[in-house]
Amino acid sequence: MAAGFGLLLFLAVTTPFCFGANVTYDHRALVIDGKRRVLVSGSIHYPRSTPDMWPDLIQKSKDGGLDVIETYVFWNLHEPVRGQYDFEGRKDLMKFVKLVKEAGLLVHLRIGPYVCAEWNYGGFPLWLHFIPGIVLRTNNEPFKAEMKRFTAKIVDMMKQENLYASQGGPIILSQIENEYGNIDSAYGSDAKTYINWAAAMATSLDTGVPWVMCQQSDAPNPIINTCNGFYCDQFTPNSNNKPKMWTENWSGWFSAFGDPLPYRPVEDLAFSVARFYQLGGTFQNYYMYHGGTNFGRSTGGPFITTSYDYDAPIDEYGLLRQPKWGHLKDVHKAIKLCEEAMVATDPKTTSLGSNLEATVYKTGSGQCAAFLANVGTQSDATVKFNGNSYNLPAWSVSILPDCKNVVLNTAKINSVSTMTKFVRQPSKDDSTATDAFVSGWSWINEPVGISSDSAFTKPGLLEQINTTADQSDYLWYSLSVEMKGDEPFLGDGSQTVLHVDSLGHVLYAFINGKFAGSGKGGSSNSKVSINVPMSLQPGKNKIDLLSLTVGLANYGAFFDTRGAGVTGPVQLKSSKNGSTIDLSSQQWTYQIGLKGEELGLASGTSSLWTTEPTLPKNQPLVWYKTTFDAPSGSSPLALDFMGLGKGQAWINGQSIGRYWPTNIAGNSGCTDSCNYRGAYSSSKCLKNCGKPSQQLYHVPRSWLKPSGNILVLFEEMGGNPTQLSFATRETQSICARISENHPLPVDMWTSDDETRKTAGPILSLACPLANQVISEIKFASFGTPRGTCGSFSHGRCTSKMARSVVEKACIGSRSCSIGVSVSTFGDPCAGITKSLAVEASCT
Ligand code: GAL
Repeated sequence: MAAGFGLLLFLAVTTPFCFGANVTYDHRALVIDGKRRVLVSGSIHYPRSTPDMWPDLIQKSKDGGLDVIETYVFWNLHEPVRGQYDFEGRKDLMKFVKLVKEAGLLVHLRIGPYVCAEWNYGGFPLWLHFIPGIVLRTNNEPFKAEMKRFTAKIVDMMKQENLYASQGGPIILSQIENEYGNIDSAYGSDAKTYINWAAAMATSLDTGVPWVMCQQSDAPNPIINTCNGFYCDQFTPNSNNKPKMWTENWSGWFSAFGDPLPYRPVEDLAFSVARFYQLGGTFQNYYMYHGGTNFGRSTGGPFITTSYDYDAPIDEYGLLRQPKWGHLKDVHKAIKLCEEAMVATDPKTTSLGSNLEATVYKTGSGQCAAFLANVGTQSDATVKFNGNSYNLPAWSVSILPDCKNVVLNTAKINSVSTMTKFVRQPSKDDSTATDAFVSGWSWINEPVGISSDSAFTKPGLLEQINTTADQSDYLWYSLSVEMKGDEPFLGDGSQTVLHVDSLGHVLYAFINGKFAGSGKGGSSNSKVSINVPMSLQPGKNKIDLLSLTVGLANYGAFFDTRGAGVTGPVQLKSSKNGSTIDLSSQQWTYQIGLKGEELGLASGTSSLWTTEPTLPKNQPLVWYKTTFDAPSGSSPLALDFMGLGKGQAWINGQSIGRYWPTNIAGNSGCTDSCNYRGAYSSSKCLKNCGKPSQQLYHVPRSWLKPSGNILVLFEEMGGNPTQLSFATRETQSICARISENHPLPVDMWTSDDETRKTAGPILSLACPLANQVISEIKFASFGTPRGTCGSFSHGRCTSKMARSVVEKACIGSRSCSIGVSVSTFGDPCAGITKSLAVEASCT
């Protein structure tokens, strides 16, 4: 059992002014102040948004029915140099935790400090790698000393501010390590020693709240082992006095440059959640609830996109993703209606037929809640339960808070859905609009090859990460090759190629100062091989290879030693006489980073910027700069990078991340209407095939001043900065579609038969922003409407009154509700189950 009680007594004596909660656990649940709790949690990683967004994200989480906010702690953000800590701005973990507390929510602090998370190097600071004798994530003394030091530092900081529940704070839970059990076999017998050490180390820090390890079936007492995955209903913890907990229910999936975008249908996500609570789970966390943005060089991978949207219930820009957010909110309410029965007893599950299961939580005092599931992927079913009959769509769960009436079925969505779009700013329709970038562009060419005094020469090819220590994405490998007049390699380029093998992630080759070719790896294999035709001249020839990383690996056994860069061979091959010269072991000259990085061009303040003679376009290695006024309004803002190649961008000195609109997703595997029935996987539902994996890049509003903002780009491949534009994220339409046989809205749930008889299903609409009203009903049909939001059409059966009824109820109001029944609309087709579908716009 967790050490909470003893610590609580101690604190009660030493800190008389704050009221601490005692957090322990038993086989059913986390126990807070003696009460078992059913908790719903969601991940929001503080550095993936800006502090000014945090209160709104947290409030939207609370409104969505979350009890707990989960975040990792990102070691490499907080300790970029050993012993030098940084908790400012987006790194202000303390402020984030306090804001969650202010909102009245709880915190699960996953310290790691290895976090995976598609975060650069899994969250480890690069300097760890250079500690003599270190081996990461195993029974290695130098590593354990560092891991303990940082973990203790974080715990200490939290204690200083009384942020643990045991001190009256919001933190009810902490995680040590992360999914080590997935890869521990690669570390041999040391793995077990390490995990036992990590458990003991964490416990010794006396937080007064329980610790978890995820995906760690051998987590020693008192650590709770928890499940991560798309489904965790079949999970059982490793001891019968630990509760069944789910630390990562993947609400979607991350995206990678060159890949299509994964999405996860909400019907399936809701199904997974309901199944988990049905089968005894009491704590579930969405990974992610808000994914956000990988600003700067924080993405892992390699090749993880700058966007970490994740198809999460709150989108990258902080707007509700509907109907995902709303439907899950309903699911949470439905589950909470069952909480008392759920925590009072153990579930009892019986079969109602093939693929059909009923689970009942029934107490001696007569409380009863039930979950009915159809886990079949094909057929809807009608089941008999307690003498009543229930319709159960395939791959769905119905929740019955009184063991009799259905409050929600996971496949039936009551929530409004929204269609959002990006609107170019200033809008093209506005004839008075000028270009967003009023001042025009200035630039500086980045020299090809070695230009810095800090360059050095070494024989042979150096691995990149060991060389740059990740101080920069860029490493130049430069070589001068002497050609005598009679070499077979001289000529017009059709007969000689430069062959380069690299561990990745991206490579640009320049011959005698001119761009000659490039190559890139991908998310499944980062290696790059290029064969570049070359024309060599007699005398000195310059070969300059610019090798780039696109986020360091974050997952897998020994991910930290995977390496990158031109490890060779590098060869000249002549087809004239088949001869090859291997250049790999020559004296290569190296430059870590770019001249422009050394000069601090990203801030835009250098005196070197020029507008003469003409703006270079579609040329590699150019720094660009412009100034701009903040686009008007307060809608979330993005930069549309169409027209550019690949690079990094800064606004007022802050990096908005790596851009790469020319990296196009493959053409296969996408579907607009993914069948939610059946097990989801990260490749099941994909969109955006044949399009840039990421074209729009989030620009936080708080980084802008009204005017005089500086935008700096470093363009690697070549592009036209004048094509760059701003876009704001706007809600285009709100929609809802409710059938006559939908359950009542969750908010109206009652087990009183009389009230249920008179109430029917209700369609509700609400504009996303408080200052908006419904201004237009674009579509309304009561009958058998077809299509989805944005493409509704009338079916054969449709009531003539639909539009006027809906207009009357909704126009001019922020929200409206309409009963979905023939008493409101008349009956356009007796005997047929009808639906009401509405599309509206808000202004
Ligand atoms: C898990 C890991 C998370 C994240 C997730 C995928 O394995 O624990 O940190 O990487 O996968 O998004």
